[in-house]
Amino acid sequence: MEENKIYLSEKEMPKVWYNILPDLPEPLPPVINPKTRQPVKPEDLAPIFPMSLIMQEFSSERWIEIPDEIIRAYKIYRPTPLHRARNFEKALKTKARIYFKNESFSPPGSHKPNTAIAQAYYNKIEGVKRLTTETGAGQWGSALAFACKIFDLECVIFMVKVSYHQKPYRKLLAQSWGATIYPSPSDKTEFGRKVLSHDPNSPGSLGIAISEAIETAVKGEDTKYSLGSVLNHVLLHQTIVGLETKKQLELIGEKPDILIGCVGGGSNFGGFIIPFVPDKIKGKSIRFVAVEPKACPTLTKGLYRYDFGDTACTTPLLKMYTLGHSFVPPGIHAGGLRYHGDAPLLCHFVKLGLVEAISYYQKECFQAGLLFAQTEGFLPAPETTHAIKAVIDEAKDAPEGKVIVYNHSGHGYFDLSAYEAYLEGKLEDFEYPEEKIKEALKDLPEING
Ligand SMILES: Cc1ncc(COP(=O)(O)O)c(C=O)c1O
Repeated sequence: MEENKIYLSEKEMPKVWYNILPDLPEPLPPVINPKTRQPVKPEDLAPIFPMSLIMQEFSSERWIEIPDEIIRAYKIYRPTPLHRARNFEKALKTKARIYFKNESFSPPGSHKPNTAIAQAYYNKIEGVKRLTTETGAGQWGSALAFACKIFDLECVIFMVKVSYHQKPYRKLLAQSWGATIYPSPSDKTEFGRKVLSHDPNSPGSLGIAISEAIETAVKGEDTKYSLGSVLNHVLLHQTIVGLETKKQLELIGEKPDILIGCVGGGSNFGGFIIPFVPDKIKGKSIRFVAVEPKACPTLTKGLYRYDFGDTACTTPLLKMYTLGHSFVPPGIHAGGLRYHGDAPLLCHFVKLGLVEAISYYQKECFQAGLLFAQTEGFLPAPETTHAIKAVIDEAKDAPEGKVIVYNHSGHGYFDLSAYEAYLEGKLEDFEYPEEKIKEALKDLPEING
């Protein structure tokens, strides 16, 4: 019998994360302090992050050891299996071999705990008592709630309002792990109240929720903020996904031709591809494809400029493809992909031509997700269906033996209302909101570089 799943034993799980910063062909543009207009210093970030994570953010060490306590927590669900999608291949009548790295295997159901566990741990050892965060579809919020429970921290979550109502079960999951969770914009923060006074029906956005979470962290005692994507240290923690995938492919003698992942802030895709990027820099033929929604087309339609990570302009300035920090994307069901910017590292890869980016409408993605569920059984998260749609397109006219690998970033069992809307024909596709994006791009700060 042919194998369907490639497992690693717990002993084979990587004990280090891979930091690509020292191996980049060109250095990453610095993060800028908006007040001084100079590169940020570690102490600038100290009000919101613990020093160990700040040091990881700027580290020039290639391999960063994973502490034993984190390894122990990872072992609740790691290593995750790499699957061969044979039935999906058959349905597509493709000559390609398709694999997926199953990050939906974690208790919260996505890749997000890979960094949530690490962040909760480093905050804990530095004496922090409470973490605040934002969440889109609730995947990140529930992952941080899970991690905070492991390390006995309080967890306060601002959840984008449209998802809070569309996806009550993720909220309940976070609450089951002991978190406090508010719909954002909320009346709990000054910024939330300001947004509500302008637009009482605001559906919310990740940018607004980040502002609320940062405000709560800065004003709270023994409280820090935790971000589920975008920053270097988040992508660093997610490299465990790519490192495992690399080992698993080597075990079966497969050489990937293309790696695919969906992109919200860039953490699952970043962590998946980063261990393979040096091979491409050295000339190996391998493609990396980032997939985003047409309703929030950051990499495909955004400008490569310095911008704030949040709507209230409280974060440092990041050089990234951006749709403008005031852009509120339409309320598509892939809530985790509704972010105006992207990880600076991933944007740097795109700028250097190392990564390609494409975008799809949500309905074609749900259709792809259902075909996958009907052949492989696993119901993907709406975010993940974007990667699956790209897999289908890549598999279509593939030559014999092409190896396609994608990151199955999460399951969709708490997103059944989205599938219901799709199955009942109630789901809308949103045209690229060109006018709204043009408007938001006018607010970009002027920074050279
Ligand atoms: C299942 C899933 N996939 C992908 C994403 C997108 O985030 P990122 O680009 O940081 O991986 C999210 C975000 O919430 C998610 O929940």
